[in-house]
Amino acid sequence: MHKDVARILISEQELQKRIRELAEQISSDYEGKKPPIVVGILKGSCFFLTELAKNMNLDVELEFMRVRSYAGENSTGNIQILLDLDRDVSNENILIVEDIVDTGITLKKVKELLGNRCANDIRIAALLNKKERREVEIDADYYGFEIPNEFVVGFGLDYNQKYRNLPYIGVLKEEVYTRQVSKE
Ligand code: PRP
Repeated sequence: MHKDVARILISEQELQKRIRELAEQISSDYEGKKPPIVVGILKGSCFFLTELAKNMNLDVELEFMRVRSYAGENSTGNIQILLDLDRDVSNENILIVEDIVDTGITLKKVKELLGNRCANDIRIAALLNKKERREVEIDADYYGFEIPNEFVVGFGLDYNQKYRNLPYIGVLKEEVYTRQVSKE
């Protein structure tokens, strides 16, 4: 285990098992329908998307977006698009893939945006749901795990861009994110 991780919340094996289940469920839900364009929201979704897509029995296309959310004037939040889709999504089925739903601002805005571009059916798959933190009304269609309000890293999730490559979801030690910046 990484020295900055207090404990493993979800092991590599548990992640793999649950993501396979989700992939099967999603594949069967899209049976007989036009396969979705899978839209991964970078960077956090990268590991989840890879594992999910590999196990989906559908001819999906993969696309990526990168957005940054920030509190807007009315504190409902807004997003800035750092990387956009480079194709038309009108009349397409979309499956948005996220690592975590926290306040919900990012997903709500991305869903609205793709809806405005006349996507047909828009569904959301999120690996983690931190329900306690929700500020706006949004729900994913598929969740991997409900998690408590703790600082989690790994499997795509970062703290200051670090720890994304841990193969498990771990709780970060408090001293790491409360630590004073050292003089370097
Ligand atoms: C994280 C995460 C989600 C979003 C969830 O992204 O990947 O996109 O925050 O938070 P919300 O529900 O409060 O909107 P972040 O902006 O940290 O970028 P990253 O994916 O590159 O880590």
